[in-house]
Amino acid sequence: MASKSIEPTRAPDDAFAIQTFKLTKTFGSLVAVDGIDLNIRKGELFALLGPNGAGKTTTINMLCCLLKPSGGTAKVMGYDINREPYKIKEVIGVSPQETTLSEHLNPKENLNLIGRIHGANPQKLKTRSELLLETMGLTGRAKDQVRKFSGGMKRRLNIIMALIHNPQILILDEPTLGLDPQARRAVWEYITQFKGKKTILLTTHYMDEADFLADRIGIIDGGKIVALGTSTELKISMLKTHTMVIQAWNLIQKVVTEMRSRYAEVEVSKGTMMITDKRLDFREVVDQLHAAGAVVRSAYIKEPTLEDVFLDITGKELRQ
Ligand SMILES: Nc1ncnc2c1ncn2[C@@H]1O[C@H](COP(=O)(O)OP(=O)(O)OP(=O)(O)O)[C@@H](O)[C@H]1O
Ligand SMILES: [Mg+2]
Repeated sequence: MASKSIEPTRAPDDAFAIQTFKLTKTFGSLVAVDGIDLNIRKGELFALLGPNGAGKTTTINMLCCLLKPSGGTAKVMGYDINREPYKIKEVIGVSPQETTLSEHLNPKENLNLIGRIHGANPQKLKTRSELLLETMGLTGRAKDQVRKFSGGMKRRLNIIMALIHNPQILILDEPTLGLDPQARRAVWEYITQFKGKKTILLTTHYMDEADFLADRIGIIDGGKIVALGTSTELKISMLKTHTMVIQAWNLIQKVVTEMRSRYAEVEVSKGTMMITDKRLDFREVVDQLHAAGAVVRSAYIKEPTLEDVFLDITGKELRQ
């Protein structure tokens, strides 16, 4: 009989809902997903953030076994995507980028249809549909045809369609695509209800969405993960320089020359001065400006955004 092993063999893997191992997909000469290694913990909300064509949907399609990898593999709740696709379909629910709702059916009928496809018991299905409609604030509209729904309502229904079989993992591909800021925020609030209860992998090209929702963010560009960490970690990682934004009267040439002699970068435009350097002391900068003759109206040290992180890593803006 084997002795009790002290080797950390299975245990660490059990902590993960999704693991990818050099996951790759090529379409002819195009490398859409380029050897991705990811470990997403059970109960984590992980955002894959990247521009159009970065490889987000292709990655998801491989994890859901809709697309065969060209190389590498992945495990979903311990099941291998190449060998155990039927097991994976039981544990995963996907809300696709393009909504897949039947416009002439009402939400209950849509949920019933998808539930039957999953082979759910009709009575359980009814109870589950009612619960899910409630969680997404759609109970009052449960009998209206989906074609009469707003974009935000359709997105919310598209999310619960993925939850009908109560999967352990919820995948949301661009859950707020095409929504206005108010409707997006509403969808975020609804998604938040599932945080910690399910493992959630979502894709987005909205920085604020990843920032608001995710426990961890993987920035994907050109099929590669180019940065990985919490929003704070990613922002700190690029704090090589600080920028101070000052609004002031009397930003005359003498003031600009004085500040340029002290700091690496000084830009002035319409009464606003931006100073960037490795080290900035708020009080010191204000005092120096006053001494040079400027009158400071307001000033703050700018926090980096995820947008700054993306720009810093890839050299381009996210929305291109
Ligand atoms: N079936 C396919 N055949 C050929 N090329 C494809 C196919 N599916 C995706 N691609 C290409 O793979 C790359 C990655 O596409 P993918 O849809 O994964 O990007 P994405 O990050 O989801 O983008 P978006 O934000 O626009 O949804 C793109 O260059 C795309 O044109
Ligand atoms: Mg996509």
